Amino acid sequence: MAEDLTIVKGDKTTQYQSLLPQIAALLEGENDLIANLGNVCAALKTQFGFFWVGFYWVKNDELVLGPFQGPVACTRIKKGRGVCGQAWEKAATLIVPDVEAFPGHIACSSLSKSEIVIPVFKNGLVCGVLDVDSEFLNHFDETDALYLEKILHLIPMGN
Ligand code: SME
Repeated sequence: MAEDLTIVKGDKTTQYQSLLPQIAALLEGENDLIANLGNVCAALKTQFGFFWVGFYWVKNDELVLGPFQGPVACTRIKKGRGVCGQAWEKAATLIVPDVEAFPGHIACSSLSKSEIVIPVFKNGLVCGVLDVDSEFLNHFDETDALYLEKILHLIPMGN
């Protein structure tokens, strides 16, 4: 595996295109889920400086906080609650340009202004979500959705 990350400047697409093969190299040959989720968070946080980036994982009937980078966060989210719980329920990526305008948004930090949540699938079912928060309004768009989904597809999910 590659343990160093090369950070590039440029537009969002340039940054994701540089990061994607590097994350592939980080994950290559490693099947430990926690290790891989941790490195995906670290790579995204290091390249983009996102305010918060982390995983919530489905355990029984709720999402439980997993590997993340950023300030401490709420640990459990019910299905359908908040942006994460809705992305789980809908099995769809949600882009929230202004968290205060999103009904039911769960504020782990008042500094977070916009958010994107992407579901992670195993055997066709949502097994977790990736949540990325920004201190800036309207930070995320379809480019983030496209590349973050590509990154999540790189994670070996086991059987
Ligand atoms: N804002 C999320 C909760 C998780 S924190 O942002 C880390 C939500 O509404 O689901």
